[in-house]
Amino acid sequence: MFERLDQIEGEALVAIAAATDEGVLRDLEVRFLGKKGALTEVMKGMRDVAPADKPKVGARVNEVRAAVEGAITTRRDALEGERIARLSADPDFDVSLPPFDVGRLGLEGRVGGVGALHPLTRVTAHIEDVFRAMGFLLLDYPEVESEFFNFDALNIPATHPARDMQDTFWVETPPGVDKQLLRTHTSTGQVRTMRAMKPPFRAIFPGRVFRYEEVDASHEHTFHQVEGLMIDRKVSVANLIYSMKTLLSEIFEREVTIRLRPGYFPFVEPGFELDIQCQVCGGKGCSVCKHSGWVELLPCGLVHPNVLRHGGLDPNEWQGWAFGLGLSRLVMMKYQIEDIRHLLGGDLRFIQQFE
Ligand code: DAH
Repeated sequence: MFERLDQIEGEALVAIAAATDEGVLRDLEVRFLGKKGALTEVMKGMRDVAPADKPKVGARVNEVRAAVEGAITTRRDALEGERIARLSADPDFDVSLPPFDVGRLGLEGRVGGVGALHPLTRVTAHIEDVFRAMGFLLLDYPEVESEFFNFDALNIPATHPARDMQDTFWVETPPGVDKQLLRTHTSTGQVRTMRAMKPPFRAIFPGRVFRYEEVDASHEHTFHQVEGLMIDRKVSVANLIYSMKTLLSEIFEREVTIRLRPGYFPFVEPGFELDIQCQVCGGKGCSVCKHSGWVELLPCGLVHPNVLRHGGLDPNEWQGWAFGLGLSRLVMMKYQIEDIRHLLGGDLRFIQQFE
């Protein structure tokens, strides 16, 4: 028995001293000290040792165990020391970099997350790509807007009941200055664009819009739209619908089921509501589609002559189509997000899912 113990000790110490990396050390630890290791085997033989000799054998077993453990620790420290020496001798080793693989050395730094693009940012970029490929310009307009561009220019005069369709955040303005508001839709860009550009042209203007409304799973006071406008001598509803279908199948990367209904908006004639089958529940009904199976996503139509006139265009010469895509809803559909409040809620656990 003592002979076997001497043998184990000798073998273990030689092998440990020769170990060149941490993996080998771990294997040796298992081989000599593990549950099925050499020392355990010896312990099993204790049964056959005469009672009087048991304490002595036991003491020797402990001695060997301690010696092997000690040797492993010493060797491990030495290997780590060598590694540090090697790293610091390397002229390319940058001590200011957060260490990814030296945590074990007690040198762990704070490793920063890489971050992720918000799904709204991603989908916006995708839409911009699709429209850029179709020759559309990308434009950007103010979020604080005059009452004129948000309402009057769009054929929604002061007394028009359509004003109540959109609850507005008004901005306090000194007397004598045009009334200002937080734009309730991106349609504010329509007349601005007509006044700035020489037709024919086509453009999209994505952005944040604001409405004074009760927040719930499908309503936010701040959300996103993408407005599109195409002005030419002759445009058609067929071309409008074709463009909208192209857009949706590009975004969803497959054919999506849509339906077209007449829709009323003072700035288009005719106007349409383009609905998409709810992609969250597949049309069965859920909180996103308010249990109807359909989601209003893309109101659109042919630009009303009065809007063209406000833009300085002669309706006998120029025509146009426009759409106001509900970007927040589109993002919810694409990523199966059931509550609009997640989008701007700022909870990192939400955003991290899109890394
Ligand atoms: N601006 C409208 C809204 O936010 C949506 C809209 C409807 C935009 C029809 C358009 C359009 O360009 O043609 O409710």
